[in-house]
Amino acid sequence: MAQHPLILGIETSCDDTAAAVMAGDELLSSVVSSQAFHGEYGGVVPELASRDHQRLIVPVVQKALAEASVTHAELDGIGVTYGPGLAGALLVGLSFAKAMAVGLDVPLFGINHLEGHIYSAHLAPEKPPFPYLCLIVSGGHTELVRVDEGFSHVVLGRTRDDAAGEAFDKIARLLGLGYPGGPEIDRLATDGDPSFYTFPRASLDGYAFSFSGLKTSVLYYLNDHAEDERQELLASHTADLCAAVQQAIVDVLVDALARAIDETGIRDIAIVGGVSANRQLRSDAQALMQEKGATLYVPEPAFCTDNAAMIAVSAVHKFRLGLTSPLNLTAAPSLSL
Ligand SMILES: Nc1ncnc2c1ncn2[C@@H]1O[C@H](COP(=O)(O)OP(=O)(O)OP(=O)(O)O)[C@@H](O)[C@H]1O
Ligand SMILES: [Mg+2]
Repeated sequence: MAQHPLILGIETSCDDTAAAVMAGDELLSSVVSSQAFHGEYGGVVPELASRDHQRLIVPVVQKALAEASVTHAELDGIGVTYGPGLAGALLVGLSFAKAMAVGLDVPLFGINHLEGHIYSAHLAPEKPPFPYLCLIVSGGHTELVRVDEGFSHVVLGRTRDDAAGEAFDKIARLLGLGYPGGPEIDRLATDGDPSFYTFPRASLDGYAFSFSGLKTSVLYYLNDHAEDERQELLASHTADLCAAVQQAIVDVLVDALARAIDETGIRDIAIVGGVSANRQLRSDAQALMQEKGATLYVPEPAFCTDNAAMIAVSAVHKFRLGLTSPLNLTAAPSLSL
């Protein structure tokens, strides 16, 4: 099989319709059309998401091929997210990818969205060598994984309740900020004092995480103030509260990384998923790497949140290993790692 295959990646698991083309390790194009209208509802509306994927899938794929200067006929394979995600949203991308694979007579590579996030670390020129530790911190997942050669991995720990991104989003809502809340908290925290208030850091066995207690503690903290006091507090200290909340989340994540480095002896660390765009997390993790003599691999911000480049790069890895998927592959909304 070709070592520099031309692969089209397709991602429609949630509210981003995305397509990307890779030629071996080189990314030729990456197109993401985000469905911004979900913001009005405070979260993603599944039925509206799948309808919009249906509307956008053809133009998004055509744009990705055009920007890569690649025609359908030249493709060596199609990579597509088949789970986890919203069933109706996944089905749009998966059906489209299967139809292309059949029509072009090329292999299909079903990609677990979380494996996609992991392999986003391989989009940078400096790629993590196997085995490495990968912290996936996204809107729906918080998992610490050891990634091995041969497209295999071992989950060391995961969240028992809310994901880190979910905590950012839910707490942002309590603070009266827009959706998604992570980028807003990140932005506002720059002018805040993290020591303004100390929110709890959940400490669980092994590498398990928990963020729902933090959300409740922010709610109790706000409810401890009478309505007029609360308005005044939010008017003058939102940035401080953002910094305090952000630090509480980042401390827990960085502490888990520190323990994992000591316990596994692995010194190549990737952080991926939407929350890996967080500036405090990046700088605290970088400081930890210096302390431990380790190397940090973080995708550029465009590849932290959902995109199809991460699906295409995963499919390139699977292509090289001959790990094709059958054409009767079904959408798996609850797929785990
Ligand atoms: N700078 C940032 N700081 C903190 N959180 C951020 C930042 N940028 C994005 N996020 C958070 O990342 C999450 C979105 O990430 P991503 O797109 O990877 O998740 P998802 O695809 O919705 O979830 P999953 O991949 O688990 O299905 C949101 O919760 C968002 O608030
Ligand atoms: Mg995602």
